[in-house]
Amino acid sequence: MTRRGRRPAKGTHKPVCSSLRKILPGVEEWRADKVEPAQLEEILKLLDLNQSLREAILANMGDRKWKNPRNKAVKERLAVFDAMHNEFCKWAKACGWSARFIRESSEIFMPLLDISERIGYTIYGHQYRSMQYADLILDSDKILKRVVIPEVAKLSDRAKARIRLGMLTHDIGKARIDAHLLRLGGPLSREDKAAIDKHAGFGGEIITAIFSSLASAWRTMRDGEILSTMAVSHHERYDGKGQPKGLIGREIYIGARVATLSDSIDAMTSKRFYRDKKDPPADYKTMIQKVRIDMDTQFNGMVVIGFFELLEHPFIEERVCEIMRSGGGNP
Ligand SMILES: [Fe+2]
Ligand SMILES: [Fe+2]
Repeated sequence: MTRRGRRPAKGTHKPVCSSLRKILPGVEEWRADKVEPAQLEEILKLLDLNQSLREAILANMGDRKWKNPRNKAVKERLAVFDAMHNEFCKWAKACGWSARFIRESSEIFMPLLDISERIGYTIYGHQYRSMQYADLILDSDKILKRVVIPEVAKLSDRAKARIRLGMLTHDIGKARIDAHLLRLGGPLSREDKAAIDKHAGFGGEIITAIFSSLASAWRTMRDGEILSTMAVSHHERYDGKGQPKGLIGREIYIGARVATLSDSIDAMTSKRFYRDKKDPPADYKTMIQKVRIDMDTQFNGMVVIGFFELLEHPFIEERVCEIMRSGGGNP
């Protein structure tokens, strides 16, 4: 990835677009159910990914049950997939990407996002719901008409659009983790936890590979750096006890601090494959208590205070409950 401030050398842009058209002929309207494993294999070959990363992603494509269009859960998943795709295009446009770059990048991002969602432990759409929570936090100043999170208030519209894209793709590295590991549930052995924790780094690797293969404009490369940072840093903790680098306080990018809170809210309030009746998703009140307990340790206190101020707005409280319900929770 190009370092901040340095433009990529001319002529390094690979002709990925024409290759994609050969791999995906006639796929004008993007649908998850249109891409076959052989096509995904070809798409992955366009990226500078190492072989083990490619093979692990393809192994996760093996689960084809989700394709049965008569299955109600499959229909719901495809609806969420389409919503994710729309959001991806919307925020990519807000970042100023060209129509061609949006099409090319979504054709690579979306099948990988689909795999990471299908094999994840929360019900389909975790990254989408996390983005919806982040969306409220990023718009907190506009909603409340005053500055509630100073560092967020300083961000440009483009920086906020990047963070929204970063939320949509923060767990893309799960596409590379063995599906059975992700669904084991707790308590996990130290080895299993370490293997799952690697998804953050894999996500950064995948995003960097996509942007290195497609992006030629310096500003777009910068967007790619932010998306990659968000994937790598979303499990960092404000107190420095997080993964993978143990960054502390403001060393963690503000977008990643918003991501940690938004990601955790969905993780604690949505249905999980391995959860049983003794361990249901947290309800609204319990979620607030858990967030308060982890304020200034896992979460940045400034972001939490902004979130709590938002919740005092009756419309926002209802919106949060609505997102929780869409994740199978019972607020
Ligand atoms: Fe994660
Ligand atoms: Fe996540």
